[in-house]
Amino acid sequence: MKRTHYCAEINENHIGEEVVVAGWVASRRDHGGVIFIDIRDNDEVVQLVCDPADSKQAHEVADQVRDQYVIIAKGKVRARGEGLENPKLKTGKVEIVVNELKIENRSLPMPFDLNDPKVNEEIRLKFRFLDLRTQKMHNIFKLRSQAAIAARNSLVKQGFLEVETPILTKSTPEGARDYLVPSRVFPGEFFALPQSPQLFKQLLMVAGFDRYFQIAKCFRDEDLRADRQPEFTQIDVEMSFCDQEDVIKVAENLIRDIFEACGMGDKLPQKFDRVTYEEAMEKYGSDKPDLRFDLSMVEVSDIFERSSNEIFSSIAKDKKKNRVKALKVPNGDNIFSRRQMKGFEDYVRKFGAQGLGYFQYKEEGLKGPLTKFFSEEDLQEIIQRCDLKVGDVVFFGAGEKKVVLDYMGRFRLYLAELMGLINEDEYKFVWVVDFPMFEIEEGKVKALHHPFTMPKLNSEGKLEYEDLEDLKSIAYDIVLNGVELGGGSIRIHKEEIQEEIFKILGIEKEEAQEKFGFLLEALKYGAPPHGGFALGFDRLVMLLAKTDSIRDVIAFPKTQRSQCLLTQAPSEVEPEQLKELGLRIRRNIQQ
Ligand code: AMO
Repeated sequence: MKRTHYCAEINENHIGEEVVVAGWVASRRDHGGVIFIDIRDNDEVVQLVCDPADSKQAHEVADQVRDQYVIIAKGKVRARGEGLENPKLKTGKVEIVVNELKIENRSLPMPFDLNDPKVNEEIRLKFRFLDLRTQKMHNIFKLRSQAAIAARNSLVKQGFLEVETPILTKSTPEGARDYLVPSRVFPGEFFALPQSPQLFKQLLMVAGFDRYFQIAKCFRDEDLRADRQPEFTQIDVEMSFCDQEDVIKVAENLIRDIFEACGMGDKLPQKFDRVTYEEAMEKYGSDKPDLRFDLSMVEVSDIFERSSNEIFSSIAKDKKKNRVKALKVPNGDNIFSRRQMKGFEDYVRKFGAQGLGYFQYKEEGLKGPLTKFFSEEDLQEIIQRCDLKVGDVVFFGAGEKKVVLDYMGRFRLYLAELMGLINEDEYKFVWVVDFPMFEIEEGKVKALHHPFTMPKLNSEGKLEYEDLEDLKSIAYDIVLNGVELGGGSIRIHKEEIQEEIFKILGIEKEEAQEKFGFLLEALKYGAPPHGGFALGFDRLVMLLAKTDSIRDVIAFPKTQRSQCLLTQAPSEVEPEQLKELGLRIRRNIQQ
């Protein structure tokens, strides 16, 4: 028996025809003599009827089959009886009356209920091949494939050439820890798996390829979250003789083509929004703001500076170091109880807040424990600046800039979820632009994107700044619904600027030479101006598929602890292998 049709193809047009279908037993029901089997293949179920009156053989075999057995069935298609149709199935108007049934393979009972969404993830990952057998997973991977094909088509149409870059390579500084691979030929020496193809794609520009792309595997040994995996995929793009706007245009075309191919073109805006990094941080407390809801912060430190509360006024005075932010919640006074408002304070304290002040705007004016510290004019000013209506609540966070922006940003998201302000059906894109070039943490200067990002130069093409933290880079991130989907920049293509940046980052000449000598060398041989971006492909699919875990869209993902429960990797290796590599394992390493 050889398959003639996929299950999904069987419909009224086949009535009276003999067909052969093959697949897994999705369910089996014995109705006093007649056995009904739902057989599932790649993407649909069709009902088989095994009636001893039609075929004794088929009925006897049907009696033995169990869930998830692999079977092949031959039979005639007929219309289902009146009232027995199943509108949920593509094949729901028909069934196959089986005259020959074969068990191709048996299956142990399922270790978990494949269709129960609440099953523990560990067991799903251990038996991933069964978890992937479900319709839900097949749909996700079809979507992923469609998106990848659309990405390739879009970039080829836009003049890009696909080039692969190495997996065994040298460490690239994308900010995470590297995965290392020991070399057998050079004992004691290591390859690093690429955190991204960043340096290679720049070299391809020096090689004159003009427009490169790759659907590239990247590896980062970092703390995992719902949208991070140690091994993930980027749509990686680089182009020459371009400015920021050219790159953004390519990325927007790419996103449009992917959404359209996935049947979601209508979800896209006419125009992608844009905010500067500074605006994103000051208004939304995040460099990846979720703009699906309209809550934003306003700065009120000038008003708080005039308050008679010592603590507030002294915080408010230092406008460079500190922030006093107000976050209005429309109608909050009618929605939240006093106890809830106290609870909000406990929430922000977890992220370093000293407290959380609030005013309620009632008919008779602003009320709340803090009002006594403000003059009548200043209370009016708060009403105006925050655009308050009666019934609103406004919350205040005051303290060190970074801390306040962080907890108020988190609080904004927390409130939006609590109040059901997020439209899960909406896709809200925003470009974040004008990133600072550096961030300084505990006195250490770090590149905010990566050290190959072009800083904004003065009219003579030179670096010019008073305060390092004020220096901007030509870097941009694309954010979708509060998730950083991708990022990129115009790169440094001149050796002297690259050296200057390394110097600021505290990377000594020898170290730069040792780590990126090949890039510095390439910059000496006619490197064109260039720039690019990378989209997190798994994240994109995660958002397209509307799941909240990146693991759902990766066929064989790792756990939060970077393990593969299916293969039990990582695992120990033979002593022989270690010996060949010149390695010895030290147990009980101090963390
Ligand atoms: P960046 O480090 O911002 O840029 O990465 C680009 C995008 O890749 C995705 N991403 C991840 N996805 C899943 N798991 C992870 N651990 C993970 N880390 C990053 C994100 C992110 O926006 N070389 C630069 C790009 C460039 O400048 O062209 C780079 O890798 O969606």
